[in-house]
Amino acid sequence: MSYTLQDFCAEIHQILVDENNSAGREKVQAKMEELLANETFIAQFCGPEKKPGVYKLNEDPTTGAVVLSHVMGEGHTSPPHDHGASWAIYGQATEHTVMTEWDRVDDGSNDEDIDMKETNQYRLDPGQVGLFDVGVIHSIEYPDNARFVRVTGVDLDGIDRKAYNLKHKTVKLIRAESADQR
Ligand SMILES: [Fe+2]
Repeated sequence: MSYTLQDFCAEIHQILVDENNSAGREKVQAKMEELLANETFIAQFCGPEKKPGVYKLNEDPTTGAVVLSHVMGEGHTSPPHDHGASWAIYGQATEHTVMTEWDRVDDGSNDEDIDMKETNQYRLDPGQVGLFDVGVIHSIEYPDNARFVRVTGVDLDGIDRKAYNLKHKTVKLIRAESADQR
């Protein structure tokens, strides 16, 4: 029997109820690898006939964790950003994604003159899973038709996040959407 989306959601529910910490997130990462090995799941949620967009596959009412499939059309490079108080786990379905991690290395006193340093870079190929724990600043770069599955600790639309502009050396707060917009 293949490992299904329902199996995955049930297991990560239990993991996150028991330990919503770094050790628990590493277990979720391993479960995501099992899910990505299910070719039926990949075809259904990330297959070639799927229209580009972001699809919410599950939201856990107890833990708040959200499972999304990101079906990308054109390739893109995101600016460095964080996910505020949330962690995120990225599982590659098709094509690849280059993940870069960053540190803000100035003294933090001036958001109009920041200094960013690249600290880590790796590539996710289909079936591989990356974890950004709470507070890790990261950027992602992917070619046309890259598709991935993502789990976030909570719905990111509901929390404040930060985006970093390397060219202008600025940082901008992305406010949580108000409840009626979500
Ligand atoms: Fe992100």
